[in-house]
Amino acid sequence: MKRDLFCDGLPTAFQPAIGKILVTGASGYIGGRLVPELLARGYKVRAMVRADFPEYHTLWPAAEIAAADALKMDSLRGALKGIDTAYYLIHSLRLGPRKFAAADIYAARNFRKAAEENNVKRIIYLGGLGDIRGPLSSHLLSRVEVAEELKRGKASVTILRAAIIVGSGSASYEIIQHLVKKLLVIMTPPWAKNRCQPIAIRDVIKYLVGVLETPSTQGMSYDIGGADILTYETMLKVLGGLLQKRAVFIPVPFSNTRLYAYITSLLTPVPESITACLMEGLKNEVVCQDESIRGLIPFDLLTYKEAIIRAMSREEQDKVYTRWSDASFPTHELALKLHELKNNPAHTAAFSLTTEKAATSLFRAVCGIGGKEGWFYSNWMWRLRGGIDRVLLGVGSARGRKSSSGLKINDVIDFWRVEDIQDARRLLLRAEMKLPGKAWLEFIIKDQGDKRELGVRAYYDTHTLFGKMYWYMCLPFHQVIFYNLIREIEKRS
Ligand SMILES: NC(=O)c1ccc[n+]([C@@H]2O[C@H](COP(=O)([O-])OP(=O)(O)OC[C@H]3O[C@@H](n4cnc5c(N)ncnc54)[C@H](OP(=O)(O)O)[C@@H]3O)[C@@H](O)[C@H]2O)c1
Repeated sequence: MKRDLFCDGLPTAFQPAIGKILVTGASGYIGGRLVPELLARGYKVRAMVRADFPEYHTLWPAAEIAAADALKMDSLRGALKGIDTAYYLIHSLRLGPRKFAAADIYAARNFRKAAEENNVKRIIYLGGLGDIRGPLSSHLLSRVEVAEELKRGKASVTILRAAIIVGSGSASYEIIQHLVKKLLVIMTPPWAKNRCQPIAIRDVIKYLVGVLETPSTQGMSYDIGGADILTYETMLKVLGGLLQKRAVFIPVPFSNTRLYAYITSLLTPVPESITACLMEGLKNEVVCQDESIRGLIPFDLLTYKEAIIRAMSREEQDKVYTRWSDASFPTHELALKLHELKNNPAHTAAFSLTTEKAATSLFRAVCGIGGKEGWFYSNWMWRLRGGIDRVLLGVGSARGRKSSSGLKINDVIDFWRVEDIQDARRLLLRAEMKLPGKAWLEFIIKDQGDKRELGVRAYYDTHTLFGKMYWYMCLPFHQVIFYNLIREIEKRS
């Protein structure tokens, strides 16, 4: 996918004295957009990811890829070797409200120590915006604690603090968009009148690169925000206006953010582990206290409305470069891959058919499943399974997919994640829904001379009685769904 670069026209310039740059969180929403910008400006970049997928080497051929986990000191040491400047974009939000803060502070402590050992000169950290003089949500407080931890080291730390980031694929944008699209009546608790200064993703990237190229920003902290300040209610209304959806807003006195977060997770693609952390922060006003960065790195900031229009147009063009769902889902990131299981899963169900259609066109149809297209047959059953998962605080099927045309390793398809993809031969999906076991779904295309065999196989690995009961309970549905699914794929190819 050819990118247009956000930093063209930035008033700062390439700094040849800067050595190798480490981008942590490169698999995440912000990091994934920062790496290509730095490469395009001529910097030597090492992208740090936890799982080194071949996809990264194709995406950023000029970058070094380092696989490291900030919770493991040894792997971090290697990733920081020879690094001049490091971007700190590690965040464990999807561990959920009870676990993320401990993981984040532990990761920051390890990072600070490993950076010291490797004489890293500079760290640039993107954190959250909030008035530290008042009570902060646990999410914003944790972001502040991470900044303090990084500052304890010898490297000079530049801190950028941003409120809501708006762009195609950002969690906040998708939450607002889905609420406005789906609700005719929107209840607005008192905190809906709180003010926020959202910023466009492209302006965040400009500031991240801008501070790198402005030596006087070393050791400083800056608030970054967009061109306008709005209440959360107005943000919903502006997007509603653009979509020509006119919901009725009814003020209500209840302000329990956990309840709103749960309801929001049922209505939007974003799971509760994330909505709970984000919505707790809505009780805080998030407006820039100090805008000195505007003088240091001057450019025209986008308004909220302009940022939304850009996000919509990216979606329409199917050019969403990174999405909140790109970062791995925590309960599964350490999960064994299918080929790593000691024994083959005890439970499998396979269905196949023979066709004269070409392997490439069958594979194109296979890769079109999920998201807006749905699952071709008995879509309501897939949606029902996704709905049940969401009620149980799982990821559900509403996550959809980042691109409706392209698919690569680690991409999300509803409640699945792509584990393996081999052109015109194999697509292997790993289940991320709540299950009493581990599950995979494999599509295989085999050449048989002038015909092709198109097959689908479900694998299920469980060691519990409940897990086994679950498998046998689902078996009759599998018979219907999977066979008809491959028939539909064959028809559409
Ligand atoms: N997105 C926003 O709207 C927004 C708004 C304001 C501020 N920010 C700040 O921007 C920063 C980046 O946010 P983001 O939206 O890009 O987050 P994200 O999409 O959730 O990405 C987080 C990144 O951290 C990595 N990570 C988590 N735990 C790790 C560990 N133990 N070791 C190594 N890497 C680890 C993840 O890697 P895996 O893929 O392996 O999980 C992922 O690449 C955060 O500090 C956040 O506070 C974001």
